[in-house]
Amino acid sequence: MIMENPDLQQKIAEAIANPKNMGEMESADAVGAVGSPNCGDMVRMWVKFKDENGKKVIDRATFQTFGCETAIAVASLATEMIRGKTVDEALALSGEELARDLGPLPPMKIHCGELVEGALRSALRPSVALTAKPMASPAAGTLLDNFAAAATTRSTLKMVFLKDEA
Ligand code: FES
Repeated sequence: MIMENPDLQQKIAEAIANPKNMGEMESADAVGAVGSPNCGDMVRMWVKFKDENGKKVIDRATFQTFGCETAIAVASLATEMIRGKTVDEALALSGEELARDLGPLPPMKIHCGELVEGALRSALRPSVALTAKPMASPAAGTLLDNFAAAATTRSTLKMVFLKDEA
């Protein structure tokens, strides 16, 4: 775990205690999914657009992940941060910027933010160069389908489950 930085640990704990915008979005206009070749984690992101004063902006974004707590926290923050942004404005955000509210990530966790950045880029503009590895046919199937496909080709996959607060 990360845990040289108690402040970061606390912020991640708060973010994953009540993650925002988690789950599939049936009416999404775009979907992207990426997997990390380093850790085997995956993030899938859905985006819905709306017209605002003649500009196409992000109305809402949701995510699912087989990822670590940091990836969950960054994805939760990112889906909030990109609301109301144009595609270009959202694409201009780095993984570090998407994770900004957590504070600086330690080197071993930087790729967690990059994974979220990759999922966002995969959804918004799949042709943009990705740090993380795009999944084949991200719009097809579910995150579980992506996971099952990756499980047949990788030896490093891990899952982090959120506690059920119900
Ligand atoms: Fe892989 Fe965090 S350890 S996304």
